[in-house]
Order: sequence, then structure tokens, then C-alpha cells
Amino acid sequence: MSMNFDRAAGYYDATRGYRPEIGSAIAKSLAQAVDASAATRFLEIGVGTGRIAIPLEQQGYAITGVDISLGMMARLADKVAELERAGRPVDVTLVEADMQVLPFDDGEYDAVIAAHVFHLVADPIRAALEALRVTAEGGSLLVCADMISGHEPMSVSEKWREIVRDTYGPIPSSAEAADDLLRELRIADPSLSITGLRPVNWHFTTTAANDLENIRQRLWSNTWSLPDDVFAACLQELTRWCLAVFGDRMTDPLPREGEFVIRRVRRDVQ
Ligand SMILES: C[S@@+](CC[C@H](N)C(=O)[O-])C[C@H]1O[C@@H](n2cnc3c(N)ncnc32)[C@H](O)[C@@H]1O
Repeated sequence: MSMNFDRAAGYYDATRGYRPEIGSAIAKSLAQAVDASAATRFLEIGVGTGRIAIPLEQQGYAITGVDISLGMMARLADKVAELERAGRPVDVTLVEADMQVLPFDDGEYDAVIAAHVFHLVADPIRAALEALRVTAEGGSLLVCADMISGHEPMSVSEKWREIVRDTYGPIPSSAEAADDLLRELRIADPSLSITGLRPVNWHFTTTAANDLENIRQRLWSNTWSLPDDVFAACLQELTRWCLAVFGDRMTDPLPREGEFVIRRVRRDVQ
């Protein structure tokens, strides 16, 4: 099982995209995390629509992106074509491949980025070890995730996870999956050093109505694998909870904090 994002290609950027200044700040942090130079060879596994790869390339770094979704990569290719029409060659190479079996030589890349991907594959540890295999000696695997927090006691998406967990079973978030994976990696290879780096932070607002509607439309991958009847029952419970908690404040703005978390994994140089 891997989660192909073809169905999300049309709305991914509208629902997950970063504001341009946040995309640039994230790209700068990733470059700093590996002391990048113009010669640094970047690979992003699960590159998607290039939400991270494009800003990184725009800062002067060549990047190869791997994905199993041709739909997501087609969006990325459209962005590359648009930038090239504006007059600059863009150094992005796209490869259709499964991150659990990368079609690259050992040590082919200096830095491998994995953002929001390990919760989507059948064997995350295999994917991480594969990413480390193609990382050059002294290079880094950057495991990244967006963490969203708010002020009210529980957000609509947290409540959704709770309802699904109680009804059907746990659906680990991308950040939780990354934490579990890093713990397992430490055990699998004690020579790895894992360092948390300074995150990129931003603020935005949402509303309970908007969050509920996104779930109703099954925009998030954590809704895709639920059988329709389970999804309908969970949604009904979530809707009741939203009406009880937010009442006539369903469309009031709710402040949110976003945090792009980066963990750098390095194998000690022999
Ligand atoms: C949540 S999106 C993240 C995209 C990008 N990293 C970002 O942060 O915007 C996950 C991406 O991983 C891809 N993916 C899922 N399983 C994969 C696999 N086994 N091999 C390669 N890509 C995979 C999906 O198709 C999707 O484009």
C-alpha cells in the first residue's frame, strides 16, 4: 500500500500551499540545514506538486523529485514550464518511482528531503533506509513535517482524529509517523545522528466551518482509506460536535500557528 495523490493533484496547492514568503523561508532553512552550495545535489522523495522543490530550485539548487503520482508531478511540470516561459531554465528533474525502491545509485545525492511522506507508504523504515542508501557519505536526510496548532481546547481536525481512532482505528499524522520512524531508525542504525533544527513558523486563520467542509469533501488523505459507511458515521459525529462546540461561531476566524519542523539524519562519516 502506498498512497497515490492523483486525486488531490487539482486541489493540493489550494489547500496545502505555502504563502510565497513561507515557501522561501522553508527552502532557505533546508539549504542551511545541509550547508548547501550550488553543487549540492538535492533529491525530494514524494515531491508532489513541488510545494518545497520549486522554492528550493528558485534559490539556485538543482533538485530531482520522485513520486508515484503522475497527476501531482504534472502540476509540478506545469509550474516549471510557466517559470521557463518567464525566461529562466529550471533545474528540476522528475522521476516516476516508488520511494521504497529508488532507481538511483548509492550515494547519488547530498541531501534527501522527505516531507509528509512516511505515513503514506507501506514500509516507512524501508523508504527511510532507501533514502539513506542514495545519500552520499556526509550527506543528510531531512525529515520534515508541518505541525499546526491553535488555541481552542480541541480543533476540528484533532476531534476528527479522535472520532476516527475510537470508531475505526488510529490514523497517525505525518508528524507522529515521522517521530515513530526516527525512533525505529535509531534502533536500526545506532550510528545515525538525528538533530532537530530550528523550525519555520507562520500564522494564519481558519474557521470551524471551513475545517469541517474540508473533511466532508475528503480533501485530506486521512479520510481516503475509510470505508464510506465509517466515514459517514464519523462525519455525522464530528458535525454534531462542531455544532455543540462552535454553535453560531462556525464561521468566526480561528487563529492557527504553522510550524515546519526539520529533523536532520546523518550517518557518521567513517
Ligand atoms: C502529502 S504529499 C507531500 C508532497 C510534498 N513533499 C509536499 O510536502 O508538498 C505526499 C506525496 O507522496 C507521494 N507518494 C506516496 N507514496 C509514495 C511512494 N511510495 N513513492 C513515491 N511517492 C509517494 C504522493 O503521491 C504525494 O505526491
